[in-house]
Amino acid sequence: SLPEYVKIVEVGLRDGLQNEKGIVPTAIKVELIKMLVSSGLPVIEATSFVSPKWVPQLADAKDVLKEIQSIEGASFPVLTPNLRGFEAAIEAGAKEVAIFAAASESFSMSNINCSIEDSLSRYREVALAARKLHIPVRGYISCVIGCPVEGAVPPSKVVHVAKELLDMGCAEISLGDTIGVGTPGTVIPMLEAVIEVVPVEKIAVHFHDTYGQALSNILVALQMGISTVDSSVSGLGGCPYAKGASGNVATEDVLYMLNGLGIKTNVDIRKVMLAGDFICKHLGHSSCSKVAIALSKV
Ligand code: HMG
Ligand code: MG
Repeated sequence: SLPEYVKIVEVGLRDGLQNEKGIVPTAIKVELIKMLVSSGLPVIEATSFVSPKWVPQLADAKDVLKEIQSIEGASFPVLTPNLRGFEAAIEAGAKEVAIFAAASESFSMSNINCSIEDSLSRYREVALAARKLHIPVRGYISCVIGCPVEGAVPPSKVVHVAKELLDMGCAEISLGDTIGVGTPGTVIPMLEAVIEVVPVEKIAVHFHDTYGQALSNILVALQMGISTVDSSVSGLGGCPYAKGASGNVATEDVLYMLNGLGIKTNVDIRKVMLAGDFICKHLGHSSCSKVAIALSKV
């Protein structure tokens, strides 16, 4: 049976903007965050405290976080790849963080320049520091279905990393189909395997829509009892280190489906569309959300 309520985690500011060619000014990011908060979105991943050499688009992480300190109504987690990033994030006022591992060795190397096991030891340090400060940690796993280098990734690899992240204290595990190759045919067995080791209420799904499969994959995840879904306003995004990865599933498209299923989100789709118009105008490209395009014509 389907959940009554789904928590949407908006990742456009981070996963979206990290993949845009142009660098968006801090003031535009802050305005976008305000518009998204006013739509009712409960969680808005704001930025990343990563190396500015690797992701120049998010080099203003500190300034963004400082500007949104007094905004109420949503939480603003940030990505932290190591202790140094964690400390900078806390210094700038972060109240929640996310760490990001991978189920494939090649992707781990290209994304964070270390092996899976090395990344897990780094993340153990971050998780320990976070626990001392009562900071909730979300754990991402990339390439849960396929890897741009290694091809198909077996569920056992995802389960291994999921267990480690859970053991270090992650409050939520977000399963990323980084290159969007999954279909219900591969997503269901992967989720079945992860549900064996992670309580279903701690699992989130994170689908990129490269092959147009994201909504079908989200639907099967909901049918399996998962009630946290990552998405990106107007489908911004992708991962700069995953060749050929396109944007996350669009928040507007997810909301339209959830509304159709009678599932509560407390998010106003029209206000998300306004935020989408705002950022797309700034970026100079059209929305990647089919729903936003369709509704803007009626
Ligand atoms: P490295 O080069 O192996 O490590 O980077 P390093 O320690 O030698 O550091 C290199 C430089 O970065 C040094 O500066 C450090 O000081 C600096 P330099 O001496 O050359 O001037 N540095 C930092 N600067 C700011 N903040 C920090 C930090 N740490 C080191 N925290 C590192 C290793 C992990 C830092 C690097 O590889 C990196 O930043 N990677 C980030 C990659 C990234 O952000 N990827 C996208 C997010 S993941 C994703 O999109 C997937 C997801 O959406 C789920 C899915 O779809 O699958 C989550
Ligand atoms: Mg992603």
